[in-house]
Amino acid sequence: MEIRELEKKDIPELNKLLNSIVEEGIYFARNEKRTLKEEKNLFETYLRKKNGKLMFVCLKNNEIAGFSSATRKQGKRNHVWEISYCIKKEYRKKGLGSALLSKLLDHLRDKDAEQVIAWVIEINKPSINLLNKYGFEETGRIKNGIKIGENYCDYILFQKRNILAKSTKKTSPNIKK
Ligand SMILES: CC(C)(COP(=O)(O)OP(=O)(O)OC[C@H]1O[C@@H](n2cnc3c(N)ncnc32)[C@H](O)[C@@H]1OP(=O)(O)O)[C@@H](O)C(=O)NCCC(=O)NCCS
Repeated sequence: MEIRELEKKDIPELNKLLNSIVEEGIYFARNEKRTLKEEKNLFETYLRKKNGKLMFVCLKNNEIAGFSSATRKQGKRNHVWEISYCIKKEYRKKGLGSALLSKLLDHLRDKDAEQVIAWVIEINKPSINLLNKYGFEETGRIKNGIKIGENYCDYILFQKRNILAKSTKKTSPNIKK
């Protein structure tokens, strides 16, 4: 397993992965599938704004098994970064999500980020458990803020404050082979 920065050659495979995650209907970062052209444009923007954005892919068996990103907020909120991540369905529950999130937090510490936030739909238990595992806490909740078909559910703000503090525990991911 390898985690490295996203490269231009990854875009077609990444586009397929993200579109498959959108189909699952629980991914907060995206509502709709994107065309390859749209994905390429986003990557060009990423290259231009590199200072405020991090993007990583996780490779397993020579394919993209996961993706994570962090976006720096602007102005008076620029000590805060918002994160997002996903793992391809067949690679879940093997420790890859933990490895990606752990690596992302390490890079954010290197960037002197102070706080990290993530939005998650309340029915997304795997993501909520992953965030709890890395010390994120629920700090906000939009009641019935999401409507899926006829059903409403909440979306929740998770926050990890003081990621630079010496007391911050670095949880080592346990990669299952
Ligand atoms: C959330 C997600 C990234 C987790 O990835 P993963 O590779 O399965 O995660 P890991 O195997 O490292 O597991 C990490 C923790 O998540 C939790 N978890 C993972 N799968 C779970 C499940 N099916 N049910 C409950 N908790 C689960 C566990 O707490 C686990 O920790 P543990 O194994 O030490 O107990 C993955 O399920 C995913 O990509 N989901 C779809 C996309 C998504 O929801 N992204 C987040 C949007 S905000």
